[in-house]
Amino acid sequence: MDSLFDFDGPPDRYAVMGNPVSHSKSPQIHQALARQTGQRIVYEAIQVDPGGFSQAVGNFRAAGGKGLNVTVPFKQEAWTYAEERSERAEQAGAVNTLLFLDSGLVRGDNTDGVGMVRDIVLNHGCAISGRRLLILGAGGAVRGVLGPVLAERPARVVIANRTAEKAEILARAFGGNLVMEGCGFDALGDETFDLVINGTAASLHGESLPLPDGILAVHGACYDMMYGLEVNPFLQWGEAQGASRLMDGLGMLVEQAAESFWLWRGVRPDTAPVIASLRGG
Ligand code: ATR
Repeated sequence: MDSLFDFDGPPDRYAVMGNPVSHSKSPQIHQALARQTGQRIVYEAIQVDPGGFSQAVGNFRAAGGKGLNVTVPFKQEAWTYAEERSERAEQAGAVNTLLFLDSGLVRGDNTDGVGMVRDIVLNHGCAISGRRLLILGAGGAVRGVLGPVLAERPARVVIANRTAEKAEILARAFGGNLVMEGCGFDALGDETFDLVINGTAASLHGESLPLPDGILAVHGACYDMMYGLEVNPFLQWGEAQGASRLMDGLGMLVEQAAESFWLWRGVRPDTAPVIASLRGG
């Protein structure tokens, strides 16, 4: 029973919006982050119909919502919806975190890139700085992480994509930066890389990429932004190439959530136990 002397008020409301969204692990992750840090929040998953994003966000704000995560296919719409954006959201061309500020302003941010970089560098202890990177794919997922990856100052970045032109365009967009280059898979083979990151949707469809042998340097590592797949043809390729490390995107998922949580709550949770509990099943 509510007490007359309950001064705490209702918990702050957050949610993830997407379509589909029922499979999302974000509610579970944010509830774990909140428990760990003693923050009083509720976090739900809201499925939004195509064309209904602005309306759904408006309803959520009117009901007192404090912030949102946004996932496929609404990250570009969230970018447009935001009245001001962080630099990394500007670069990504996509927003995965909305903050409804007390001033009434809607701020957009993107925590995907920093989440991936933290997972690779801090959780896995795999440096990006000074290393030669091959990034596979040239869609929204790759564009979303390029800014924070380049901020680590890798020695060289090659983006390879099934549609070579898209890789070239993306490399140019982040250009003025001589370490960047875009190409098709058939142009690979002449150089080796310390870290290969898969940001294509190929693993999701159980498909392998036409990657030549020998492009992974000795002690080279492989990272797939996807997670939770029973079979991951890209990581199988990495294993066959003798990769020193095979990493999936589960840690990235938790790290991007933790960064959103920090933006909303001003508290930095410890991600390790949350990643461990998700891996444990
Ligand atoms: P996202 O926002 O998840 O990145 P996207 O913009 O549709 O989604 O991009 C998907 C990426 O996966 C693209 O780089 C796509 O290659 P194309 O640009 O040539 O379409 C890549 N992709 C999807 N399925 C693939 C497959 N079977 N083999 C190779 N690349 C694939």
